[in-house]
Amino acid sequence: MFDTNFTRENNARHFWAPMSHPRDLRAAPPKVIVRGEGVHIVDIDGHRTLDGVGGLWCTNLGHSSEPVKEAIRRQLDTLPYYNTFRSTTNAPTIELSYLLQEYFAPEGLTRCFLTAGGSDSVETALRLARQFHRVNGEPERTKFFSLKRGYHGTHFGGASVNGNPNFRRNYEPMLAGCHHLPAPFAYRNEFGTEDEETIAKGIARAFEEEIAFQGANTIAALIMEPVLGAGGVIVPPETLFPLMRAICDKHGILLIADEVITAFGRTGADCGSRLWGIKPDMMTMAKALTNGYFPLGAVMISDRIAQAFEANADTRGVISHGYTYSGHPVGAAAAVAAVTEIRRQNLAAHARTHGETLLAGFKALQDRYELIGNVRGKGLMLAMELVTDRAAKTPAGKQVVERVYEAAYAEGLIMRTSGNNLILSPALIIGPEDVETILHCLDVGLKAGTEAL
Ligand SMILES: Cc1ncc(COP(=O)(O)O)c(C=O)c1O
Repeated sequence: MFDTNFTRENNARHFWAPMSHPRDLRAAPPKVIVRGEGVHIVDIDGHRTLDGVGGLWCTNLGHSSEPVKEAIRRQLDTLPYYNTFRSTTNAPTIELSYLLQEYFAPEGLTRCFLTAGGSDSVETALRLARQFHRVNGEPERTKFFSLKRGYHGTHFGGASVNGNPNFRRNYEPMLAGCHHLPAPFAYRNEFGTEDEETIAKGIARAFEEEIAFQGANTIAALIMEPVLGAGGVIVPPETLFPLMRAICDKHGILLIADEVITAFGRTGADCGSRLWGIKPDMMTMAKALTNGYFPLGAVMISDRIAQAFEANADTRGVISHGYTYSGHPVGAAAAVAAVTEIRRQNLAAHARTHGETLLAGFKALQDRYELIGNVRGKGLMLAMELVTDRAAKTPAGKQVVERVYEAAYAEGLIMRTSGNNLILSPALIIGPEDVETILHCLDVGLKAGTEAL
């Protein structure tokens, strides 16, 4: 084994981290996290912080879920890997797909395709959408719609429907035939209003206009997150999802709910589609599916799509797509344990209660700090937007954001920063004392940030 000095010396020397500039990493190496305990993490210096990031929106059960760990250990000892390509399968995959169709029965999602993560799941859903229309005799339906500020992972398909130029610019050109609708963002939008109803109707109108312009029979699917996560925790108006569902139905367009973050209780509902009362044609998921302990994703598929594929008798129905790790037995075993635990502990209700308290705490901080321009959240997905001029909504600079982040970290909270946003997505098992810690550390961070102005 290498020792601690070796780890410190080699930090950021040979590893390029995702979503970062290799030059910046060398100048300021990342914190080395060595341990996870419940809702806390410990860094290489022994400093313990409350994990406000929840791993990366994924450790809903925290870092010490024994049932998930035990399932992984047991499966490693029984069958650590075997493929699920056509002629073989494994027991955990069968159990997981049964469990998932049960969990998502209210959404009418009855079939499951397994992947190795969120980007994989988005890629699969986009492909299956196009293929469904082929099977259905409409092969010209190939285009995709999505929301600006939406995040759908980093494969070429997902990046093409991604609504943030930062994730696209260096890799363009993207997939042809992907179109973006306005973001459902009350704080900053092109509609000149904060009125949710006007925003929802404006987006619906833009969708209808673009459908008329493109031709409905050229459009395969609309992909949307129930709550936009990586784009800065944007909670859409509650009428938006039902409105978009109705437009999709009217024009034969599939609706893909990208629930990589929202699928297992994070918004305060069992999934985001249930939160808004809609039934998607497909749902993508990953992250909390294994509590983040094993890279696994899934696409849940509606009965209507399933029936079209299963009734097909020619090659159009062949799924010529899949991954070596589709149906990984260790991942599937971890997922069976994680989903069972999430349901048993009724974590959605827990997220709702603590999310409401946290959001109220954010609002109280906003009353005290001019630096906070906007606070928003749903369940345990929360964000705080820092500005240097509230009236002009001028985003706070990197230096100020980093000051807040570092002061909060020193006090005992790690959170995520994205531009001028502070993002919080702790484990869903946090208790009232953890909520207090988060608010206290934010207070300390904001004080330091205000002094740095
Ligand atoms: C909504 C959404 N879709 C897709 C992805 C991509 O998932 P992954 O990073 O596992 O590839 C993410 C990741 O955060 C996400 O939030």
